[in-house]
Amino acid sequence: MIRHFLSLSSFSNRDLQALVDRAHFFSLQPQQTDQIHHLLARKIFANVFYEPSTRTRCSFEIAAKRLGADVVNFVPENSSVKKGETVYDTLKTLESLGVDGIVFRHSDDHVLDHLRDRIQLPLLNAGAGKNEHPSQGLLDLLTLHQEFGDLKGLKIAVCGDVKHSRVAGSLMVAAEMFGMEIYLCGPAALLPVPKSPVVKHAVFDDILPVVDAVMMLRIQLERHQGLDLDARAYHTQFGLNAARVARMRSDAIILHPGPFNRGVEVSDDVVEHPKSRIFKQMSNGVFARMAILEWAMDRRSK
Ligand code: NCD
Repeated sequence: MIRHFLSLSSFSNRDLQALVDRAHFFSLQPQQTDQIHHLLARKIFANVFYEPSTRTRCSFEIAAKRLGADVVNFVPENSSVKKGETVYDTLKTLESLGVDGIVFRHSDDHVLDHLRDRIQLPLLNAGAGKNEHPSQGLLDLLTLHQEFGDLKGLKIAVCGDVKHSRVAGSLMVAAEMFGMEIYLCGPAALLPVPKSPVVKHAVFDDILPVVDAVMMLRIQLERHQGLDLDARAYHTQFGLNAARVARMRSDAIILHPGPFNRGVEVSDDVVEHPKSRIFKQMSNGVFARMAILEWAMDRRSK
């Protein structure tokens, strides 16, 4: 069976925990061992990003290289997309050229549903519209696991543009699987109706002292018309600043998937605050994606 990595919901709890544990294992290797560096020797992955990316694209590439694989970076802007080639024909072309897996990002929520049965090699979802971003979900779980151990019962506030966030989408899937509680905060117009009993709406300032982690989200203006608030007003109402951080529990942490807008959803001094794990999340992105690439190639037991 082809090992597509499309949604965290396609894993059992046990298999997803195994992926978190494997990512954790990679994070504990102080240096690159020869064994790790040969796990995916001679494999070639294509990075196919129809939307901008810094962290996800670079960390998939570094993860592949750390495992001994090669990477082809497909850039739609200088490709036959400009001559009218469709997404399907582009992926089929890469399949014919002999790549072993395709790391794929697109603005369409459902594009992967149409491609999954037509492409005969693993498709790895690197962000699908507003739906899911499962590799980000895995790195978020790894970061929480490193901090707190057991994920069950963790309380997480997610504040900002949750409605248009695929990062929040994957976190909510994982929360239901692991029994974490999610509190959605921010402007009412940017909050989805909760679809799971573990997800609730909350008032940011009320929930702050209660939660284990606060995940701040960027306002994803490329996906909607924006709000009736300017950046300063938004920051005052919903931004995480030093005064709000001071009200968090002593062991609570700050998360953000990036890219962050300093002075809007997070103040400048919060980004590198001792409670912030924002850069840790970025480092963990490489380890999570190493675990994903290894899983997709079904190499673990060989
Ligand atoms: C996120 C994304 O692309 O969904 N970024 C990321 O992958 N770390 C979040 C965002 O764009 O705000």
